[in-house]
Amino acid sequence: MTLAAGQHLDNKYLLLHTLGQGGFGQVWLAQDTVLGDHHVAIKFLTTTKQHLDPSFLVEMRTLAGLNMPGIVTFHHHFTHKGQLALVMEHCPGGSLAQKLRKKQPMDAAEWVNQAVRWLLQLCDTLAAVHARGWVHHDIKPANILLRDGMAVIADFGIVNTTGGTVTYSSPSKGMGLAQRDDPREDIYALGVTLLELLNHSHPWHGLEGNALEAAKRQRTLPADLDARTWLLEIALRAAHPEGALRFQTAADMGSALRARSVPVRVGQGHETVNPLSPLFLVYMQANGALRYNFTAPKQVLEIFRALCQGQTQPHEALCKLFDQQTKHGQTAGCNQGHQEPRRL
Ligand SMILES: Nc1ncnc2c1ncn2[C@@H]1O[C@H](COP(=O)(O)OP(=O)(O)OP(=O)(O)O)[C@@H](O)[C@H]1O
Ligand SMILES: [Mg+2]
Repeated sequence: MTLAAGQHLDNKYLLLHTLGQGGFGQVWLAQDTVLGDHHVAIKFLTTTKQHLDPSFLVEMRTLAGLNMPGIVTFHHHFTHKGQLALVMEHCPGGSLAQKLRKKQPMDAAEWVNQAVRWLLQLCDTLAAVHARGWVHHDIKPANILLRDGMAVIADFGIVNTTGGTVTYSSPSKGMGLAQRDDPREDIYALGVTLLELLNHSHPWHGLEGNALEAAKRQRTLPADLDARTWLLEIALRAAHPEGALRFQTAADMGSALRARSVPVRVGQGHETVNPLSPLFLVYMQANGALRYNFTAPKQVLEIFRALCQGQTQPHEALCKLFDQQTKHGQTAGCNQGHQEPRRL
């Protein structure tokens, strides 16, 4: 289908310019000439592959049913030269991918605060989407749009399938083991998106095939990635290769972002600890975390292993820890100064 600026479609839309091009669709900014100065975004399928038509219908039906502020608003559809076109609200801020590419000057701390606000909005929206039984499966900066500074999710073309974009897909999805209704697939992609925002580029940029899968499994981070510890822990928990060790719900991830700390599972319940506390650092070490050059007596690690496995209560662990510290005359410490690629 050939489209050009200046074309009039459906007796009311004047095509102005393209807003973006994805793998399957082209999105145009258009003016609704009946309403006057009203702009919309129109998505056209740019491929003639017949099997994609049903997914375009699914995208429209899902959008039409998901009427919430964090989802791009669906207006209606029309047919042009026998092909469906999807008319939706125009998000003037463009996509997060475009925002990352433009690299507008912004204070580093302000950028991080902004990234956290976007992630919180995305967690809230995805929690509601998942509650309705939908899993997006293609969360990534190119599918997150900005409306009045709010992160808005678009492109529901592969909702509840096990498709996705390889660089944002969990290792199990890559192996064909993901479930179409598992919300943790979206949480994985949110984790990678957060890492990308913190790093200003995809953490595994340029990697493909086995090298990419190895980086996903080890969660290798660029050596110069400079981010607050709690935020990195949250991103890495979300992007954990094992679904069971990720945040289990988008609401849990949102709570961690609000609390600015990672909940640590202790016994039956969850306990939130300050990620900079010695308790947390020893917990990380006991779980094989390699981000810290951490030294602690073997006995201390044993105490925390027991704590992590629910064999001891936190207050007992603390008492034993203090006993150990008295014996060894030192407290647990850490050194974050190393520049090796990190994994958690
Ligand atoms: N409503 C909108 N307002 C502003 N820009 C938009 C809008 N919808 C889409 N875009 C732009 O167009 C791009 C492509 O849109 P979309 O993701 O829907 O296409 P796609 O072909 O399904 O993509 P994919 O490659 O993810 O399959 C987006 O990344 C974004 O930059
Ligand atoms: Mg897209």
